[in-house]
Amino acid sequence: MSGAREGLVVTVDGPAGSGKSTTARLVARRLGFRHLDSGALYRALTFALLDASVPVETWPDLTRGELEALGVSVEPTPAGFDVRVGDRVLESELRTQRVTAQVSQLSSFPPVREALLGLQRAAGRHGRLVADGRDMGTVVFPEADVKIYLVADLPERARRRLAERGVTSPDDDALAAEAEVIAQRDRRDSTRAMSPLRQPEGATLVDTTSLTIEEQVEVIVLRVRERMAAEG
Ligand code: CDP
Repeated sequence: MSGAREGLVVTVDGPAGSGKSTTARLVARRLGFRHLDSGALYRALTFALLDASVPVETWPDLTRGELEALGVSVEPTPAGFDVRVGDRVLESELRTQRVTAQVSQLSSFPPVREALLGLQRAAGRHGRLVADGRDMGTVVFPEADVKIYLVADLPERARRRLAERGVTSPDDDALAAEAEVIAQRDRRDSTRAMSPLRQPEGATLVDTTSLTIEEQVEVIVLRVRERMAAEG
């Protein structure tokens, strides 16, 4: 995908806990590209609906116009994008368990995906972008120059999620409970009708189960540099 754009687009898709966001952010930093965390947009819509006390049972009936009226936007920053609702820049609010519990269901509704598509494509208009999510290489940037699909074993992904929350030596029950929460979200994300999670055609599969973050970043940076060298 070169053409009118000035720089490459790199997509990183994969299930929860595969390391997409951390990896994509570091890859972008190494390359001097911007990082787009598309999950943050779905989380921002979820946050905005919860914050406005819109009852969850009415979410399936929301129209694209009603969703757009919530005022979710993305603003470029030197390294990536601020995600806003109105004037408020969202950060830790996006990753609360309350938002995490609802985001996957909201993401399955077609008006939600339509409402966020333009914002994501606009972020990639000038290239020099590393975008991570579930449908970056399949739907949002199907013409991306480099596509990566990150996977990892379920117990390892559960371990990473617990470690993010400060639980470094979980017992078997805690690990099994977290694995079940992740597996449920994977099932919802992979079986929805619109833009389900799947490996994009032409994507490089990277299994991160026994890789460090540095190693997985290196694999992707090398892949992008190869592509840049091939383009001359
Ligand atoms: O970091 P983690 O993988 O747990 O989640 P995320 O990337 O913040 O995405 C949260 C949720 O948003 C996912 O479980 C999907 O339901 C949804 N999502 C999506 O549908 N499409 C995307 N491109 C990104 C996220």
